[in-house]
Amino acid sequence: MTTIHTTRAIDVLPEEEIAAIQPLIDEINRLKVERNAVVAAHNYMTPDIFHLAADITGDSLALANLALETDADVIVLAGVVFMAETAKIINPKKMVLIPDLEAGCSLADGITGSDVRRMKEQYPGVPVVSYVNTSAEVKAESEITCTSGNALAVVESLGVERVIFTPDQYLGKWVAGKTEVEMILWEGSCMVHERFTGEEISDYKKDMGDIPVIAHPECPPDVLAEAVYVGSTHGMINWVSKHQPRKVMMITECSMADNVASAAPDTEFVRPCNLCPHMKRITLDNIRQSLETLTHQIEIPQDVVERARRAVNRMLEVGRQD
Ligand code: 13P
Ligand code: SF4
Repeated sequence: MTTIHTTRAIDVLPEEEIAAIQPLIDEINRLKVERNAVVAAHNYMTPDIFHLAADITGDSLALANLALETDADVIVLAGVVFMAETAKIINPKKMVLIPDLEAGCSLADGITGSDVRRMKEQYPGVPVVSYVNTSAEVKAESEITCTSGNALAVVESLGVERVIFTPDQYLGKWVAGKTEVEMILWEGSCMVHERFTGEEISDYKKDMGDIPVIAHPECPPDVLAEAVYVGSTHGMINWVSKHQPRKVMMITECSMADNVASAAPDTEFVRPCNLCPHMKRITLDNIRQSLETLTHQIEIPQDVVERARRAVNRMLEVGRQD
């Protein structure tokens, strides 16, 4: 399910800033029409992109579904490379652009296709579940992919006693705590979420009284132990919209609170601030440039696309859990 975005930039950006960037937004909109393009933005984008340039916003599962559903000829992925690759795998006929090829991910960079092949040799016959935060080659070596919005359901959908789970050890441990399926974990981690500590969160709680904590499952277990809700970026947004708490501590990439704030105007967000340097490489300027020059186009070898698509489509059939 994708989130069709309602523009509420005025709630989070000063009027003068909106006025200053309006010519750039107008240019992006003109190019979108000319190219028959959509800008799909992850929830971690800065508010200017999220509120003013994006046609569709969401978590990595929503952005994958968009690639399946859109009529546009061109998708500009305002996110990181693995998200753009996922869109290309799902719909190889579309032109998929990433405004900066350096927008990587510590999880995706921490495992290769040959690493997965080695694990499969070590555990013959055990299916591989890979988080979408992986390269196309790793997806191609996997039976099925998952996101943080459906990891538990994906693992259980296989109906087996054990799985190899790559690459996020913390998401894997979180799922392992909720299922009977034995999880053989790769020891990858997100450079942003692994910096949060349980001690830091419990200190905040002592200072602030009884404040609900919601957290992304890429956080270490001692952080998740402090949370009343653990879920994808989409799940956290839903949790805030449903509960409309007076205050909430949102443990994930820092920009997200700015983006959720417009949907929950009465909620105060407390956020120990860790930014993802990869996500922050995407700017209004390079989105405009990407649309103008049609760069950087995602290209994946045909045989890798075919094998990776089986794993991604199998995940899309499982659907969303949070
Ligand atoms: P979501 O799938 O929850 O949007 O998370 C993607 C991600 O990269 C989180 O760091
Ligand atoms: Fe990767 Fe972490 Fe950045 Fe998400 S926040 S893109 S998992 S490095």
